[in-house]
Amino acid sequence: MPPLRRSDLARPFLKWAGGKTQLLPRFEALYPPAGRARRYIEPFVGSAAVFFQVRRLLRPEEVLLADGNEELINAYREIQGSVHRVIRLLSEHRRLHSKEHYYRTRSLQARDLSPARRAARFIYLNRTCFNGLYRVNRLGGFNVPMGSYRNPPILDAENLRNVARSLAGVELKVAPFHETLDYARAGDFIYFDPPYHPVSETSRFTSYTRDSFGASDQEELAKVFAALGRRGCLVMLSNSDCAFIRGLYRDFAIHAVPARRSINSRGDRRGPVSEVVVLNYEAPSPAQIPRRPLQPELLSRNMPAGGGSPVGTARAGRATRRGPAPADAI
Ligand SMILES: C[S@@+](CC[C@H](N)C(=O)[O-])C[C@H]1O[C@@H](n2cnc3c(N)ncnc32)[C@H](O)[C@@H]1O
Repeated sequence: MPPLRRSDLARPFLKWAGGKTQLLPRFEALYPPAGRARRYIEPFVGSAAVFFQVRRLLRPEEVLLADGNEELINAYREIQGSVHRVIRLLSEHRRLHSKEHYYRTRSLQARDLSPARRAARFIYLNRTCFNGLYRVNRLGGFNVPMGSYRNPPILDAENLRNVARSLAGVELKVAPFHETLDYARAGDFIYFDPPYHPVSETSRFTSYTRDSFGASDQEELAKVFAALGRRGCLVMLSNSDCAFIRGLYRDFAIHAVPARRSINSRGDRRGPVSEVVVLNYEAPSPAQIPRRPLQPELLSRNMPAGGGSPVGTARAGRATRRGPAPADAI
């Protein structure tokens, strides 16, 4: 097995509702065997937790990452092409961070900024806002209040450089999920992680983009899932474990996985829940499961100071302490 690369250490740099970091150990047993898919497509990429793992374990030759959130894709593009500039701008945000700076930055219009400033603003607001939520008003203005973190992890320069390495050669698209049908080809591996169908009215969370994701979107997604299967793609999807979702995917293999919901302003609603992973292919046998464990000495260089949780997995509402970022070049 080829040795680990620094890009293999990349991990989410955003707090993202529905982020999959906690489920990655379970996902390892569900991906297609390494070598079976040349191309990987992730149409709801969010914080890219799954992409980073798939890239390390399956080493796809081509990758296409998409999301309906334009700010998010702009941030990936800027990290991919101008990581030094994003790091410089984020260190400026870190230096200036205060309540006044947060609200001044929030009031700027993304479209008036250069792509790099827009990316740094997006990452800064994500790391310092309440619970890492992404919510915009009808005009597209970000409207989440500041969170109360003592020392929010605004910049991890080493991780951003690893993310840039990991994004090298990756195609990035702002696109609604149904456009996957325009570019997927037989043999591609596609992972769908849509906004989850609410298991109850109170668990509704659909504010990633301006438009919410309702039952008819879930139905359309199930049709896209089936159509991609007929085309010869290997398709994996996660969603909440409820009768509606199980009904939509009744013709496919459904695996239940225990998970924790992390973004919820009410602590009592952050308990364990069951989620489903739907596959249109047979899960690999244990011998086919790709293993590429991260070496502890590499990992420890890449963890927040004080041994806390990785940046992308910091529990909502809790401050994570970190030391200054190392100044080494990419
Ligand atoms: C559950 S999150 C994905 C989380 C991701 N797997 C992670 O680990 O962070 C769902 C994503 O779908 C995106 N999204 C919502 N509606 C969409 C649509 N109609 N088409 C494409 N993306 C959409 C959101 O911006 C969000 O990033």
